[in-house]
Amino acid sequence: MSETFAAKRLNVLSGIQPSGNLHLGNYFGAVQQYLEFIEQGHDCYYFLANYHALTSLRDPARLVELTRSTAMDYVALGLDPSRCSIYLQSDLPEVCELQWILTTVTPMGLLERCHAYKDKIAQGIPADHGLFAYPVLQAADILIVRADFVPVGQDQKQHIEVTRDIAQYFNSSYGEVLRLPEPYIPEHVAVVPGRDGRKMSKSYNNTIELFAPEEEVRRQIYSIVTDSATVAEPKDPDTSIIYSILTLFCTGEESEAWADRFRSGGMGYREVKQAIFEKFMQRFGAARKKRQELEKEPRYIAEALRQGVEKARAIGAPLIKQVRGAAGIVDAASLVS
Ligand code: ADP
Ligand code: TRP
Repeated sequence: MSETFAAKRLNVLSGIQPSGNLHLGNYFGAVQQYLEFIEQGHDCYYFLANYHALTSLRDPARLVELTRSTAMDYVALGLDPSRCSIYLQSDLPEVCELQWILTTVTPMGLLERCHAYKDKIAQGIPADHGLFAYPVLQAADILIVRADFVPVGQDQKQHIEVTRDIAQYFNSSYGEVLRLPEPYIPEHVAVVPGRDGRKMSKSYNNTIELFAPEEEVRRQIYSIVTDSATVAEPKDPDTSIIYSILTLFCTGEESEAWADRFRSGGMGYREVKQAIFEKFMQRFGAARKKRQELEKEPRYIAEALRQGVEKARAIGAPLIKQVRGAAGIVDAASLVS
């Protein structure tokens, strides 16, 4: 990560929907960058977007379970509650209040251009208002803590641009109240490919899950799609899904060495899969162990989330007050003057 970020203390925010199990795309595309911002000493807010998850999940028991388990995943991966604020979106109701106010300055056309909604409509699937308004809720998540940077994968770039647009619409109507955020998307991990070569995603059933049982992780890694080249044949690393996944775990030099081995032939895909499996376990072994220990301590997680939301509220509550004031929303008591 660029050293220029170290010079100033920034507000950093990001979130993940608890709508499925965390996978390599979430880790390399997002969580790894979350950790770097913590290391640099910034004020970091990492939340679970459980209201957003309702746009794709209508199974209350599963949503509760995924909320609980994703919170544990966060901590196990190193999002230390004493060094960053982790919380549930629904524990910060100021977000929903801000969302409503933002909807009133958001042109329909801006939301009609957003991918998730547009894609559903193009497929002829009826969309609900929640999916249409999804980017406005995301804008509220970001603006409520005055975020400077939002570390995300490439698929979220449009949402950060929309957030900036909405903040600008608000500011031009009511004064410079909202801070415009920047996305943070390192190019080499912007889109992590899934086992089938499409973007790795919970919704495509092509993930390699961070906390699945060891045998399941092995099965997922061994099912990465490869071509039918024999061991002896040379292989092109530049068009290879398995090479892209392998190099997530490699330094630049290691990646070059593997690329040479691909090109020269005499190396089979089985060997590459085994190498990925070993590197996966090296990288995530400690987190997987910690995750098992956390499982025995639900109180610890609940307390971490409670403290986390307090830190977020310390910045969110004055912000919403300022927004209400700017827009002319008053409480009854203030009418007596
Ligand atoms: P999913 O697509 O699996 O539902 P989310 O939408 O919950 O994942 O994404 C959470 C975060 O992880 C976002 O910042 C998103 O950009 C990032 N992310 C998800 N999948 C990938 C991927 N394949 N490559 C890079 N980043 C990803
Ligand atoms: N839309 C994001 C995703 O699907 C999740 C999200 C919700 C988010 N609110 C956010 C990400 C705010 C960054 C900032 O991945």
